[in-house]
Amino acid sequence: MCGIVGFTGKQSAAPVLLDGLKKLEYRGYDSAGISVMDGKKIAVSKVTGRIANLCEKTQDGTNVSGFTGIGHTRWATHGAPTEENAHPHLSNDGRFAVVHNGIIENYLILREELKQAGYHFDSETDTEVIVHLVEMYYRGDVKEALMRTANRLQGSYALGVICSEQPGKIYAMREASPLILGVGVGENFFASDVTALVSHTRNVIYLEDGEFAELSGDSIRIFDLSGQQIHKKITRIMWDVQAAEKGGYEHFMLKEIMEQPAAVKATIAPRIKGGKICFDELSVTQEDLKGISQIIITACGSAYYAGCAGKYALERLTRIPVQVELASELRYSDPLIDEQTLLIVISQSGETADTIAAMRECKARGAKTLAIVNVVGSTVSTIADYTVYTWAGPEIAVATTKGYTTQVAVLYMLAIYVAEKLGRIGEETADYIKTLQALPRRIQQAIDMNPSIPAFAKKYHKSKALFFIGRNTDYATALEGALKMKEISYLHSEAYAAGELKHGTIALIEEHQPIIALCCNPSIMEKTLSNIVEVKSRGAEVLALTFRNNQKILSVADDLLFIPETDALFAGVIEIVPLQLLAYYVAKENNCDIDKPKNLAKSVTVE
Ligand code: AGP
Repeated sequence: MCGIVGFTGKQSAAPVLLDGLKKLEYRGYDSAGISVMDGKKIAVSKVTGRIANLCEKTQDGTNVSGFTGIGHTRWATHGAPTEENAHPHLSNDGRFAVVHNGIIENYLILREELKQAGYHFDSETDTEVIVHLVEMYYRGDVKEALMRTANRLQGSYALGVICSEQPGKIYAMREASPLILGVGVGENFFASDVTALVSHTRNVIYLEDGEFAELSGDSIRIFDLSGQQIHKKITRIMWDVQAAEKGGYEHFMLKEIMEQPAAVKATIAPRIKGGKICFDELSVTQEDLKGISQIIITACGSAYYAGCAGKYALERLTRIPVQVELASELRYSDPLIDEQTLLIVISQSGETADTIAAMRECKARGAKTLAIVNVVGSTVSTIADYTVYTWAGPEIAVATTKGYTTQVAVLYMLAIYVAEKLGRIGEETADYIKTLQALPRRIQQAIDMNPSIPAFAKKYHKSKALFFIGRNTDYATALEGALKMKEISYLHSEAYAAGELKHGTIALIEEHQPIIALCCNPSIMEKTLSNIVEVKSRGAEVLALTFRNNQKILSVADDLLFIPETDALFAGVIEIVPLQLLAYYVAKENNCDIDKPKNLAKSVTVE
């Protein structure tokens, strides 16, 4: 995933572009660049590494003059992170510069064709074919050149283009990658997401696939690929710049953990009206729901684990079979999908390549698709038949926290909503809804009940490996807890169904091996208790996560984490919180780059 920005107006463009790229650095940060137009000349500055290097090279933009420009921060997909491969890319005649987020799948064929036509390439990237196509098709009208270029491209792109013969103008074009226009006063912008815009304007326009725009300081014109000008509504962004900044916390991840009570409340509260769950965005009837024979949840990473956590409530209340499938597996598994399948697609970014591909595959087989996404206007949301947004606000840390808990919260609501519409639950609905309404408060309690987490982090941060064990709903949370730990602290961590230990894994348990045992589901607590005794008898040290008054567990565990008592069917969003904090503080002890863990990006937009 990469980040692109564009600006045109009356102030110097370079500092505005650099400021925007800093806000997008979480999208990719192995190289960066800006192109600024000064009269009829396009200047380019590119670096490898972080935006800070670009700021240094351009003296914070002061040594680059001009009021119109584009910028890019890269997460390498085609071609190593080098200056040559960094964007913007220039046309051979120097009249065009292009920045791109996405993947051009047919770039090799286009590259050969363009070479045959006499164009030379400076980089190994897929993007460079775009700027040469634009040059090849340009006959004085940039819009025409863009439309003809778009007709040749296969794959995904959010493009920014400037042309030295069109001073004061920037062009933006979108296909299957997010691109938002910022509407200013005497100045206009584009960016890959809103966080790069809100410090300049709260008025934005979400471009959709197959649309492109011509922006000058005083006007924005939007077209479809037939060249027809179209009107788009302006959306007002309500959250403020601080929401996208760290807000006083040392890391975005900690800020976003602490935001979870508010994020879950923002996601749940507007959907509880008159004692019922209401999804204004779902126009489904009881007949539609009766036609569902199976629910398949598909996603990647933490979003997949959110599906695992939500499955129990969905299946228990709706009595519809629910399977949770990894998107990267589902897309190639010749899945048994038909018109009676409801596919629930979960994605924080809405741009994960495997998730999008699995969704397209299942949709082609007749599935009805319901997306649970956090980013408005993201690609998943434009493909889905229905979209339910998690109103978590911007999630900047690569490791998702509020994205995960709000996804699980939506699944809980969907379980109650569908079951109630199918008449599978009656007066108990009110109790379920009361439990949901209490979740934000319970999450805050789970944060406040565990002041000892930094001490546990000190104790365990040098462990060779950590095992997370649990059963049923506890097992689903253990999966996410293990992922959080490994992806930000780099400690080898694995989650195991507690009942599976004796089938092999217990061979790994040695003296002082730390085991994190989740014991928040009373229905199977005794069984997990026996697993704790099993591993302790082999020398393990057990950190148990349970309720305060759970004497049986308290009597056998070495260390304790607590959550407030809650119906286990809806406890997943609570019991994950102490595990998020444990992972955070272990990573801190290990001096890890918590918000930008090595090798990871916020959204994996490539296979
Ligand atoms: C979560 O902490 C990870 N960064 C990663 O597993 C992530 O959940 C996964 O890549 C899916 O991303 P998405 O929700 O944006 O689709």
